[in-house]
Amino acid sequence: MGYFPCAPLGPSLAVSLQLLSLVRQLFMRMPPNTSAWCESFEAYLAGMGYRVDTKEGICRRFSNAYHWYCILEISLDEHVQQQLQRSACPPLDIPLADPSPSHCSPYSSKMRPSEYLQQHCPLCFGGHGRESNNQQSSADVDAIVCIDACFTQKCRSGQLDDPVNPTATVFLSPEDIHAMESEVDGLRKSKSSINRRRDQASKRNHGDEGDVFEEGMKITASVLKGCNESFTAADERHQKASTQFFSDTGVMALLCHHDHVIHLANMTSAEEKQHYALALIKALFGHLPSDFHIGLLYDIGCQLEQSCRKWGFLKPFLPHISFAISVFHTFGHQWPCQLFYHPQK
Ligand SMILES: *[C@@H]1O[C@H](CO)[C@@H](O)[C@H](O)[C@H]1NC(C)=O
Ligand SMILES: *[C@@H]1O[C@H](CO)[C@@H](O)[C@H](O)[C@H]1NC(C)=O
Ligand SMILES: *[C@@H]1O[C@H](CO)[C@@H](O)[C@H](O)[C@H]1NC(C)=O
Repeated sequence: MGYFPCAPLGPSLAVSLQLLSLVRQLFMRMPPNTSAWCESFEAYLAGMGYRVDTKEGICRRFSNAYHWYCILEISLDEHVQQQLQRSACPPLDIPLADPSPSHCSPYSSKMRPSEYLQQHCPLCFGGHGRESNNQQSSADVDAIVCIDACFTQKCRSGQLDDPVNPTATVFLSPEDIHAMESEVDGLRKSKSSINRRRDQASKRNHGDEGDVFEEGMKITASVLKGCNESFTAADERHQKASTQFFSDTGVMALLCHHDHVIHLANMTSAEEKQHYALALIKALFGHLPSDFHIGLLYDIGCQLEQSCRKWGFLKPFLPHISFAISVFHTFGHQWPCQLFYHPQK
């Protein structure tokens, strides 16, 4: 009848689909606030002589209707996309190993970036696969992505969970993030004694304060130390994201260089710990063909590369990553560091 109910059984409120569509458009363009919307609506109705007759008002029921209406709309889009992909599949000249409906053979054989990446940024990942890029010089990367954390996007502890939302998400699952955290801790523990011995040996050989090139690095350990110090100083206020008051202390994002979100990770620690960035990078490579080369911009790209080489993080992907420092931050780094990590150099 053109109305969306607030509950699947015995609804006591139903909202016009046109109104829901209007609210959805509005909430895409301003901070969504259903209680403000409902209060205004009740006042508007009251002004026309209609009274909402229950004490609780319409807000809770309206929110339910609105939430599931949005999920219906998103599911519809997803369904249409799936159907389009299925019909866009080329004729099956290669026998399909995995005849799952959402995958065409060229994608599942990992010749190209995944369907997910192609949808999130056709410009970066939708091209004609790797072959067409081979004319470029080897210094060129196939795509550039960047990572940064935002500590203003917090979530208060003890707040009610979001309502069930079965639609596709760009957020990494908490399990993936925890898995990376334990991998990082494990590698740090198992390698710390080896690294300490090597550090002592190199100090003995070179005499001074460890001004040496660590394995695989183009800048010396002392320069990296300087970068770390200035970064920590600049970022000290971020440490104040209290885990006491917030369950999510912020969000870390991986975007392509057209500013399209590829993945997000909820942060639950007070500092910008490395495993969030590592989990995002790992998730990205899960969608890429094995010969794809990524340029990675990060505020502390030099530190991240050092950690990866030192502790063995992201080992299979390291040859496919060129680290650099995001351009707003790069001038805060040591000069020798800028020579290698400044994106314009
Ligand atoms: C939403 O609107 C209500 C009522 O106008 C207001 O009290 C509340 O602070 C708003 N919430 C946010 C997150 O802005
Ligand atoms: C991430 O945090 C947001 C805001 O707190 C929440 O809505 C979302 O469900 C969380 N996602 C995951 C995967 O934990
Ligand atoms: C940077 O310095 C801090 C404190 O001095 C230290 O805890 C941290 O491990 C250093 N980070 C790297 C990547 O070396």
